[in-house]
Amino acid sequence: MNKIDFFATTAKGLEDVLVDELKALGCRNVKAGNGGVAFTGSMEDGYRACLWLRTANRVLLPVKSFHCPSQDALYEGVYSLAWEDRLTPEMTMAVDANLRDSEITHSRFAALKTKDAIVDRIRDRCGERPNVEPKDPDLRINLHLARNQCTVSLDLAGTGMHRRGYRRDPTIAPLKETLAAGLVALSEWDCQSHFVDPMCGSGSLPLEAALLASDTASGLLSPNFGFQRWPDFDSIIWKHLLEDAEQRRRQLRANLIFGSDRDRRALELSRRNAERAGIGSSIRWSQHDFAKLDPPAGQGTLLCNPPYGERIGDEDKLEDFYRKIGDTLKQRWTGWTAWVFTGNLPLSKRIGLKSARRIVLYNGPIECRLLKFELY
Ligand SMILES: C[S@@+](CC[C@H](N)C(=O)[O-])C[C@H]1O[C@@H](n2cnc3c(N)ncnc32)[C@H](O)[C@@H]1O
Repeated sequence: MNKIDFFATTAKGLEDVLVDELKALGCRNVKAGNGGVAFTGSMEDGYRACLWLRTANRVLLPVKSFHCPSQDALYEGVYSLAWEDRLTPEMTMAVDANLRDSEITHSRFAALKTKDAIVDRIRDRCGERPNVEPKDPDLRINLHLARNQCTVSLDLAGTGMHRRGYRRDPTIAPLKETLAAGLVALSEWDCQSHFVDPMCGSGSLPLEAALLASDTASGLLSPNFGFQRWPDFDSIIWKHLLEDAEQRRRQLRANLIFGSDRDRRALELSRRNAERAGIGSSIRWSQHDFAKLDPPAGQGTLLCNPPYGERIGDEDKLEDFYRKIGDTLKQRWTGWTAWVFTGNLPLSKRIGLKSARRIVLYNGPIECRLLKFELY
């Protein structure tokens, strides 16, 4: 029963957090790799992983691995799989491809060749061909080609798992929800003391903190996954998983999580996102400049993602701003543990406080640091 090998992908640097998540879900043979984690389990474990994993971008089910030094080898390798067991002509499909250090160098070409092989196989076996639907396919197929070794996988979620369903409006420089969840996990917040994001933007960090503390499954808000449209989908198991997740969800204590920003529109967005996530009243939002924000009484964890110049903000002004972050932390947040996530290392030095930890993470292609400051 527990024999299926899966691979969950995540942002580089979050592999260990994902390992902990998978172990907590009871998965076996959990092993961190580069940009993801391999694990073993039943199909139910695969469904559960899609519903609960906070830091995974995708959950893949590898179906074949083969040596692939040419386009013919790719076509033959993909064609040889019994696609007719997984895909009917009435279903839609899409192929994602990522390549590294291989003879085939164009991912779009590799995706096209893979699609051709699958379509030809279904047409040969069933007389008709399935259509391609890049955005919302019934079956998304993932091709990973590294050093001429090709792995073909089925994408269980079928869509990026950062799409929790609570963020729908366009936003400037938001964190991906999966990365935000990873930062919350790395901050070691105990879910009991205060949690504050004083530069909350669209609210990703307070929202992910709230989902964690209320034991809300990350996929529960928008439980539409690719596997639900597969021919072998087990709707009874899925129904039980959803019922269990609904039961586990609990009310958040008042005055536990705080989000603040100096920008009124950011707060409007945050409030709307929190409403959609069903935790509207549990987070306290306020409009303040960080330098003037009063910490809630008692101690806790401050986690923030200040502008860092890659996408918004202006480097010179930001130097002063980062200096001010350091001064504010030192003067107003004594007794707290502060974490600052930034993609600009020179700027982070302007904070002027000695960091207790520096964790390397990637926000897309940008190398970032999560810095910990103990404010004695
Ligand atoms: C990179 S964005 C944060 C994005 C957020 N983590 C998200 O996922 O949407 C930085 C935020 O810092 C806010 N900000 C900049 N300077 C500030 C200040 N002095 N006080 C409070 N907020 C500030 C900006 O308005 C912006 O929303």
